[in-house]
Amino acid sequence: MTGNDSEIKDTGLRGVTVASTRISHVAGDAGKLIYRGYRVEELAQNATFEEVCYLMLYEKLPGKRELDDFQRELKARRKISPRMISALKTRPSTSLPMDVLQGGVSFLSNHHSHPDRQTRSNELDIGILLIAQMPTLLAAFDRIRNGKEPVEPNPDLNHAANFLYMLTGEVPDPEIQRVFDTCLVLHAEHSFNASTFAARQIASTQAHMFASISGAVGSLSGALHGGANERVMAMLLEIGRVDAVDGYIRKQFEAGNKIMGMGHSVYKTKDPRARILQPMVKKMGERTGDLKWYEIASTLEKKALEAFAEKGKTDIHANVDFYSGALYYQMKIPVDLFTPVFALSRIAGWIAHVIEEQFAEAAPKAVLYRPSADYVGEYCGPEECSFVPMNKR
Ligand SMILES: CC(C)(COP(=O)(O)OP(=O)(O)OC[C@H]1O[C@@H](n2cnc3c(N)ncnc32)[C@H](O)[C@@H]1OP(=O)(O)O)[C@@H](O)C(=O)NCCC(=O)NCCS
Repeated sequence: MTGNDSEIKDTGLRGVTVASTRISHVAGDAGKLIYRGYRVEELAQNATFEEVCYLMLYEKLPGKRELDDFQRELKARRKISPRMISALKTRPSTSLPMDVLQGGVSFLSNHHSHPDRQTRSNELDIGILLIAQMPTLLAAFDRIRNGKEPVEPNPDLNHAANFLYMLTGEVPDPEIQRVFDTCLVLHAEHSFNASTFAARQIASTQAHMFASISGAVGSLSGALHGGANERVMAMLLEIGRVDAVDGYIRKQFEAGNKIMGMGHSVYKTKDPRARILQPMVKKMGERTGDLKWYEIASTLEKKALEAFAEKGKTDIHANVDFYSGALYYQMKIPVDLFTPVFALSRIAGWIAHVIEEQFAEAAPKAVLYRPSADYVGEYCGPEECSFVPMNKR
C-alpha cells in the first residue's frame, strides 16, 4: 500500500493503490475504460456479453470454437433446481431483489457438493455456474412475486435475450436483444470499485467464490454504487417534464442533496459508458415514439453541469447510471431490478477478480487485506477505563 497514514485518513482509500491487476484499467482523467487491453467502446460495438465473460475469465477473446463451447456450457447450466424455485416461493413478495440475489448465491453454495474446494478450476467452474444461474434466479423471483410461474430458460437464445425472455415470457426482438447485450458488456467490469474490492477483500481471507460474490452483491446494492441507477429513474420520474428540470436542480442543491447518476470517484470527465448509453436512450425513445425520458435526462445533465460549474465544480459529470435507468425503464424492466441487472453483468468482473486475488501468478498467494484505523474513541482520563459493574452505571 502506498501513501502514509496521515494522507489517507477518511478518504475511503481514494488514490491508494492496494494491488496489481491485469483485468481492467479506468483512466479517470482521460475518461477511458479498458478491459484486458480492449477499449470498452470497441467491445460494446462488436462483442457479445458471452465474449466479454470469456475475456474476463480466460484472459483473451475466444476463437469461434472456444466461444461455441463456452456458450454451450452456459446454456446447459442455466436451469435452477426445483428446490431453489420452492425456496423463492417462500420469499415475501416485498423482499428486496438484491437481497434475494445475495441469498440466492448462498443458496447455490449450500447445494454445491464442494463450494470450498479452492482450486483454480473449481472456482472458475463455480463462476460459470453463477453467470449462468443468477439471471434465472432473478427472473424467477420477479415472476413469482407477481403471482406467475417461472419461465424455463430458452437454449435458442443468447444470454441477454434469454434473461429478457425469462422475465417476460416473450422473445425480445433483435434490436432490444442487442441493446440489452450492450448494456451487459458495458457494466461487466470496472476495476477496484466498491463491490469488486469487497469481493477481493473476502477472497483474500481464502473464503470461497460464493462467499466473495454474495458479499459483492451486498456492496453493489448501496445507493452510492450500483443502487444509483434505480435512484436515477426515481429522480427522472419525479421530475416528469423537461420544464421541471431547473426547479429540481435548485431544490436538490438547496437541500444539500446529490443529483443521482452524476459524479464519480475516478472519472473526472464524462464516463465513457454514459457516452455510449446516451444515444442508445435516444434511439430507444425514437423507437417507442416517446423521447420524454431522453429529453429529461439530457436536459438534466446539461443544466446540472452548468449548476456545478457555477459552484466551481467542473469535474462532476454523468456516470454509467445516469442513462442506463432510462434505457431499462423503456425496455419495461421493473425499476427495482435495475441494480440486480447490474449484478448479472458485473458478475463477470467479480469472478475474474476473485480468481486473480487467489491464483494470479503475479501474486501467488492472496495477501489478507487488513488496513489500520486511528482510534478516536474515549479513554477515561489518560488511562483505559475500568469496568463499571451494572449496579454502579
Ligand atoms: C459517486 C460519488 C460517491 C463519488 O464522489 P467523490 O468523488 O468521492 O466525491 P464526493 O462524494 O466526496 O463529492 C465531492 C464534492 O462534489 C459534490 N458532488 C459529488 N457528486 C455530486 C452529485 N452527484 N450531486 C451533487 N454534488 C455532488 C459533493 O457534494 C462534494 O461537495 P463538497 O466538496 O462541497 O462537499 C458521488 O459523486 C455521488 O454520490 N454521486 C451520486 C451517486 C451516484 O451516481 N453513484 C454512482 C457512481 S457510479
